[in-house]
Amino acid sequence: MNHEGEKVIDEGRQGEFLVKETSANSSRKMLIESYGCQMNFSDSEIVASILSEAGFSTTKDVEEAELILLNTCAIRDNAEQKVRNRLQFFRSLKKKRPELMVGVLGCMAERLREKLLEEEKLVDLVVGPDAYRDLPNLINSVEQGQKAVNVLLSREETYAEINPVRLGGNGVTAFISIMRGCDNMCSFCVVPFTRGRERSRDPESIISEAAELFENGYREVTLLGQNVDSYKWNMTSKGEVTDPSKPTLNFAGLLARVAQVNPDLRVRFSTSHPKDMSDEVLETMASYENICNYIHLPVQSGNSAVLQRMNRGYSREWYLDRIDAIRRIIPGCAISTDIIAGFCGETEEEHLETLSLMREVKYDMAYMFMYSERPRTLAERKYDDDIPEDVKGRRLREIIDLQMSHSSDRTAAMVGRVHKVLVEGTSKRSESELYGRNSENVVTVFPKKDLKPGMYVNILATNCTATTLIGEVVE
Ligand code: 5AD
Ligand code: SF4
Repeated sequence: MNHEGEKVIDEGRQGEFLVKETSANSSRKMLIESYGCQMNFSDSEIVASILSEAGFSTTKDVEEAELILLNTCAIRDNAEQKVRNRLQFFRSLKKKRPELMVGVLGCMAERLREKLLEEEKLVDLVVGPDAYRDLPNLINSVEQGQKAVNVLLSREETYAEINPVRLGGNGVTAFISIMRGCDNMCSFCVVPFTRGRERSRDPESIISEAAELFENGYREVTLLGQNVDSYKWNMTSKGEVTDPSKPTLNFAGLLARVAQVNPDLRVRFSTSHPKDMSDEVLETMASYENICNYIHLPVQSGNSAVLQRMNRGYSREWYLDRIDAIRRIIPGCAISTDIIAGFCGETEEEHLETLSLMREVKYDMAYMFMYSERPRTLAERKYDDDIPEDVKGRRLREIIDLQMSHSSDRTAAMVGRVHKVLVEGTSKRSESELYGRNSENVVTVFPKKDLKPGMYVNILATNCTATTLIGEVVE
């Protein structure tokens, strides 16, 4: 997925956290902040929906909130540090208002429940990603003076029929969660431990969510999963049919069905996994104009030995073959990636192979990170986190510098062409300008005129910054 990243090149897409207001008539107010990946943002919308049934509406005013929830991320150590700092701040509020309830949701819940609840007494409520339906009960317990915890992971929960409350949105673009958990066990990654086993959501509920969004004026959906290519319905993880009387569906099939909801509904998805991304998915993308020409395909490293230590399930050659397939089947498709600098045992030569792969692919955009050892992962058990911080930092710098030059080359190459842009809202730069994105996911800014969010416009790009196109409307 596109995750929380301290080194994000395309800043238009990531928010630090999300604080939004929903309906004002419910009597009780809660504030929810989300950290980390898009999946967490999407989960917060599910939480808002569950709690609105229990009489809570959201607020962005800390003073007004009687319940504060932090939807946390555990992917890297610094993500956790941010949440801890925020919790210290809320503790100071609680001193003044002892009735204030503070809860931790999401990926930090399981691992830190004891610390947060018992040792540090920072929070009243700790709820893992599969236990959100239990929130109303847990809040009751807190009100009766108990600490409340539910961090059980589930093999079935997909919140399929819950209609998310759209938070922080622009009314044009929305996330739809299509699966939860991950079975991949990349050696650096804590997600399989925090989010549990992989499971896919009922396609009918996905299609009806997309259709309802379209009816409500939304014009773009992003299908979310840790590894969307392994989406399976009516199939076991090994691909055997579960119920022969019913049809099966894979990710390519799901993508086509969502694209058929309406040709004016754009479809994006994240994240693809190089070991599973099939030509069938690429061909489906090529055959629907409304499936955007953009693929996020995390490589992590350009060296096959490192990839093996990472347990990624592919080699450099395999990855480059997937890139060739994208270029062949969807010419002009934008490609972004995730890269980790300084993984266990990474030699200078191995690092140079990451740089050479980047030169070969010329990514449009990248999320780049220093390796951060995570508890319980395979890497923590098996390998030494032996690359000194200064070396990790220098390698990351080299990766970022190279990517910045590729990103700005990519943006510059789009100048002089006409792009179909979906209008999303008013530009941060000026009230008289709007912004939107083209199919390749590049933010584009242009004069407002009488255009409205949700419209498609043709924009001739006349200029650019490193990551943004500037243009004017053409007929
Ligand atoms: N250290 C650094 N980066 C990590 N990621 C996942 N786990 C770690 C870790 N332990 C990065 C990967 C992944 C992205 C979501 O976060 O690049 O694709
Ligand atoms: Fe983590 Fe790998 Fe699963 Fe992505 S595919 S969530 S990196 S284990």
